[in-house]
Amino acid sequence: MTLPRHAFFKGAIVPYSEAKIGVLTHALNYGTAVFGGIRGYWNAEQEELFVFRPQDHFRRFLDSARLLNMSFDTTPGDLVEAVRSLLLAEDYKEDCYIRPLAYYADEGIGVRLHDLTPAISIVSMPYGRYLDNEEGVHAGISSWRRVDDNTIPPRGKIAGAYVNSAFAKTDAQRAGYDEAIVLNSHGRVCEGSAENVFLVRHGVVATPPLTESILEGITRKTVIELLRDALGLTVVERPIDRTEIYLAEEAFFTGTGVQIAAITNVDHRPLGTGKIGPVASRLRSLYFDVVRGRNHRYRSWCMPIYHPDEAAIPELAAGPARRERA
Ligand SMILES: Cc1ncc(COP(=O)(O)O)c(C=O)c1O
Repeated sequence: MTLPRHAFFKGAIVPYSEAKIGVLTHALNYGTAVFGGIRGYWNAEQEELFVFRPQDHFRRFLDSARLLNMSFDTTPGDLVEAVRSLLLAEDYKEDCYIRPLAYYADEGIGVRLHDLTPAISIVSMPYGRYLDNEEGVHAGISSWRRVDDNTIPPRGKIAGAYVNSAFAKTDAQRAGYDEAIVLNSHGRVCEGSAENVFLVRHGVVATPPLTESILEGITRKTVIELLRDALGLTVVERPIDRTEIYLAEEAFFTGTGVQIAAITNVDHRPLGTGKIGPVASRLRSLYFDVVRGRNHRYRSWCMPIYHPDEAAIPELAAGPARRERA
């Protein structure tokens, strides 16, 4: 992986080599940090880098921080502007990934969430695929259960909770799968190690509701809207049993990293034809047009970095992103 050249650190853009923390940092020792993951998409025809739904990502980021008792004076809009400055400094002409982190910066011993000082950093780096095989993922049901709302709340991206995801991912890959499907503490389908999950059964798309110990995924929210409004499909948010996924016609993962990845086999059982199905296929091509700023209807979700134009800035535009928040 290429290291970033710059970082947003202590409120300014600095060389990446200067964005350093000490080994006693609270977040490093106790996992007391939250993070985000945002993609920037290069559109070669328009010579533009579009950042996808940055306001929504930073709203969730600050919500995640609140779960850890962190409070900041900063707004999602301030963080969006920090991203713009960072990306202008990096000057990418390719797809990239943006990683904001809010962490307890104190150096010392003592497990707690109070009387600590939170700080924010942001870096970005060039980025391509997250899974090698987005058109046909073989997933395995993990023997690890997802953390739940009363252990480490998974609705936010809390760094320490990702040890749970790491257990699931490593075991899945060592067992020969591409990715894990993790069940929640009730034994119901929850999500992937870093993805939300959807299935199609009897022509209806289903995904677990936010109360099933899942991350409040931005791609999940995007995909629900695209499936309903652009593809005219019925989407229900409901608890899903493990064996329903074995019987599904199709299933797919969604996430900023994975984008839309078709799950074609689960635990060595082919889903439907065992190949990417029509829903995942249509959704993928629509999604890639949307995120690259090629679909006018959803253009307000894409923030242009090099040629900012007011109509396209998410918080100013009266587009689908705004309707959804209303
Ligand atoms: C556990 C988990 N679930 C789901 C997702 C997908 O979330 P989003 O679509 O906001 O990237 C992620 C990735 O961030 C994740 O880590």
